[in-house]
Amino acid sequence: MSRTTLLVLAVAGVAGGAVLATVTTRTPRTEVVDFGARRTATTPAFDARVQPASAANERTFRIPITHDTIEIADGTKYEGWTFGGTVPGPVIRVRQGDHVKVVLVNQSPMGHSIDFHAARIPMNQAFRTINPGDSIMFEFEPRDPGVYMVHCGTPPVLMHIMQGMYLPIIVDPRDGWPGHADKEFVVVQSEFYAGEAQHGMAAMDFDAAMHANASYVVFNGRANQYKENPLQVDEGDRVRIFVVNAGPSLRSDFHVVGAIFDRVYVDGNLDRPLQGVQTVTVPAGGGAVFETSFERGLSGTGVYAFVTHSFADASKGAVGLIQVGHPQLASMPSH
Ligand code: CU
Ligand code: CU
Repeated sequence: MSRTTLLVLAVAGVAGGAVLATVTTRTPRTEVVDFGARRTATTPAFDARVQPASAANERTFRIPITHDTIEIADGTKYEGWTFGGTVPGPVIRVRQGDHVKVVLVNQSPMGHSIDFHAARIPMNQAFRTINPGDSIMFEFEPRDPGVYMVHCGTPPVLMHIMQGMYLPIIVDPRDGWPGHADKEFVVVQSEFYAGEAQHGMAAMDFDAAMHANASYVVFNGRANQYKENPLQVDEGDRVRIFVVNAGPSLRSDFHVVGAIFDRVYVDGNLDRPLQGVQTVTVPAGGGAVFETSFERGLSGTGVYAFVTHSFADASKGAVGLIQVGHPQLASMPSH
């Protein structure tokens, strides 16, 4: 219930019960986000911090599709097919029961689409391919909390995902996640299949993608970017990480070196969280919510790596660091 509604109820309570019944409906508040105007920072690293959802319960997201030059590893440029100009696309955050409206605008030279795993909706209508210059609008009510993959579903889907067409949507439970978190981050794992560079751009290698022979496996779109730019938390922080594995084909065995997850909500399942776990697999096209504490005397001040523990993939770029407090530089691990 919104703060405004509570205030109205308090006043109505004084006035009498008859009035109360007419003001108990939650005041709708509208949020409109244009991801053409609000682009996620990608330098020095993709901004992994996520902010709480606003108080709105009616939300419109305008998502432009563009083809843009992205950097998938240090010095390696690639033609990304994007939602909102970045890979991954922007983080969408909503609340269970919200009214969500999506406006997809195709500003690219070819047909694309958008598929929300968080939506229960006929795919042939909402997720259909739209031509260059066209747009599509659809609405849904997210009913199932979690963090979900959103991606282009235009055939060949393998190609559209390997080119970068995915983003995460967080669906908060109606009453929020159980327990407090001091910091929240989003981590999207994915693979790139890049061949020889032509005119300074690495080429798409569809044959490698067909054999799941990745050239890079990355967190938030660029190999190893959080080694140089660790996620920053304070000693004592309880940290929530929303992990989506966009694939297109490999799994993510998500693990933090030197920490144990207090709770993991697999696919946002609030009824049966995993407790005290080391590594949890997030399948391609899946998501899970990881929580851990960086407590003094346990996982306190220091440096912690987050990886996919499938190490052939980690060695291709799926390693990042979490820096807790202000550790001595001499204690930094050498990767
Ligand atoms: Cu596409
Ligand atoms: Cu899908």
